[in-house]
Amino acid sequence: MSQKHLKQKAPASGLATLVFKQVKPYTKWLVLIFIAMLVETIMGLAAPWPLKIIIDNVIGNQPLPLWITWVKGFGAQGSRMAWAASAAILLVVITIVGAVAGYVNSYFTESVSQYVANDVRLQVYHHLQRLSLSYYDTHQIGKILSTITTDVTTMQDFVSNSLLGILIDGMAILGILGLMFYLNFNFALIVLSVTPFLIFFVTKFKKRVKVLMHELRNDQSNMFAVLQQGLESMRVINAFGSQEVEENKLKKVSLETVQAALKTRRLKSMLSPVVSIMVSVCIAMVLWRGAGLVLKNALTIGALTVFLSYLNKFFSPVKDLAKMANAVAQATVSLERIQLILKTDTIIPEKIDAIKPMSFKGEIVFKNVTFSYQSGAKVLRDVNIDIQPGQRIGICGPTGGGKSTVASLIPRFYDATGGQILIDGIDITLYTLEGLRGQIGFVLQDTVLFYGSVRENIAYGRMKATENEILEAAKLANADEFIEKMPHGYDTLVGERGVTLSGGQRQRIGIARAILRNSPILILDEPTAALDTESEKVVMEALEKLMKGRTVITIAHRLSTISHSDKIIVIKDGVVAEEGNHQDLIRLGKIYAELYHIQSHQEADKS
Ligand SMILES: Nc1ncnc2c1ncn2[C@@H]1O[C@H](COP(=O)(O)OP(=O)(O)OP(=O)(O)O)[C@@H](O)[C@H]1O
Ligand SMILES: [Mg+2]
Repeated sequence: MSQKHLKQKAPASGLATLVFKQVKPYTKWLVLIFIAMLVETIMGLAAPWPLKIIIDNVIGNQPLPLWITWVKGFGAQGSRMAWAASAAILLVVITIVGAVAGYVNSYFTESVSQYVANDVRLQVYHHLQRLSLSYYDTHQIGKILSTITTDVTTMQDFVSNSLLGILIDGMAILGILGLMFYLNFNFALIVLSVTPFLIFFVTKFKKRVKVLMHELRNDQSNMFAVLQQGLESMRVINAFGSQEVEENKLKKVSLETVQAALKTRRLKSMLSPVVSIMVSVCIAMVLWRGAGLVLKNALTIGALTVFLSYLNKFFSPVKDLAKMANAVAQATVSLERIQLILKTDTIIPEKIDAIKPMSFKGEIVFKNVTFSYQSGAKVLRDVNIDIQPGQRIGICGPTGGGKSTVASLIPRFYDATGGQILIDGIDITLYTLEGLRGQIGFVLQDTVLFYGSVRENIAYGRMKATENEILEAAKLANADEFIEKMPHGYDTLVGERGVTLSGGQRQRIGIARAILRNSPILILDEPTAALDTESEKVVMEALEKLMKGRTVITIAHRLSTISHSDKIIVIKDGVVAEEGNHQDLIRLGKIYAELYHIQSHQEADKS
């Protein structure tokens, strides 16, 4: 995705609002962390005091300061050894309180950052689950993965390392600035005079870092995408012997990542030195002015020294904050990338008053349906289809004609761009998505198996299915037999993509799933296309059992699969070209008849 594109789509709201929204549920913890930080700082300041008491008041002869006599154990009459003991105890107490505060600070800071990251991850995944499939047609999985992992981690680091730090530094700056004004108005003004330059520089710097960071993160996610695709396609890569091609792809994006990282680093490394130079210019100005004033006796040497020491204290958080500009830029980029996913609104919309359908009778009507994937050429034009409950419909036609597209509009994987689709007389957009999709079963060309046992994979059709129902479904699907022969039967683990099962076996698992789903509408998209004649027979047998009593739409190239359908629809170039039963279409003598003759000749040649 180009820079421009990112910028256009990125939200205008700043990092602060976005971060605030995410950390808001943890306000209580943040307050606790803040208090712990304060206590830690105070204990740090108090740490040298017991030593001072021992040196000045126990060993030396200084009288105890008045306030300390209020503390129990430091009674004015107490012996010096009692003072010493109390000071020693005080030292331990200060250390313990500081240590506890440090622990609370460290643990809860990490807690907040971890939970914020957790929230964001879940939010993004939740959103991704609801996006229309068109999103996945245009976005690479590797890049999405990169955002859910790397960008979320960057945000987490920011919350854990910088968020409260910025607040503390900001407060320190204001406090010390106030003190400096109190000490010497003129000098404080000199300090303030460099501030605009500093702000100007840091802002410019942040902007530039953001641009570079976007480039870097882009390159990194490209790398992710290349790796993910390559690893996923090992079979094809091996088959084509294209290892070198794939390695070169990685080499290219990996090198781009290195260059982008170095470019970013080159800029980042400038920050510290430039800020140091600005600070030293400021100190030099104070020294120069101060020397003049001292010579004119307008200022004591002591006052100048004190002011200079404050100046140093002042610039330490300023330098920190400047450094954090970096962290802020980085976190902003990551948040923008996360927002880019969250703001994607290709969600299939569900009406507020959507109805949860009763069991469908199974009437499906397409009324003048038009459709195009991304704003481009129309894939479907003015499609009218009328399917009665319980009918078996066959769809065929030349490849790329739009058959699968027709099927994917029914469960609303995509929404039609024009016209209407009705199920049982009601526009499908008026149903809840869950209710609609819950009543449509699928067997596709290739059944995807999830990593898990065979049993779990069948149960994917209906999570709440009982053991008996699963066994029953497997039997009906003609899958029982081969499952029983596997080393652990129904408990056998099948791989990420079911590599241990043959195509026919996978299809039968897919059918078992559909049987378990028991949906009134069934869509079969070339369920036997990938099978040889032998397995096709077994799978077709299973399908026959599955189809009983349902509205079934079967898409097939092999016309023998659909020739017995109640109605056959030929789709060509996105329109319904022919419609009728086998006899009708043969009589018509056009596309279907021609295809049928070619295929029956082929069959005859084979046998
Ligand atoms: N996800 C997609 N994004 C963009 N265009 C697509 C997408 N899927 C399909 N198309 C295009 O839409 C047209 C119809 O595709 P479709 O998959 O519906 O054809 P089909 O009839 O099922 O073909 P086949 O018989 O080869 O399965 C094709 O031109 C195809 O390039
Ligand atoms: Mg298709």
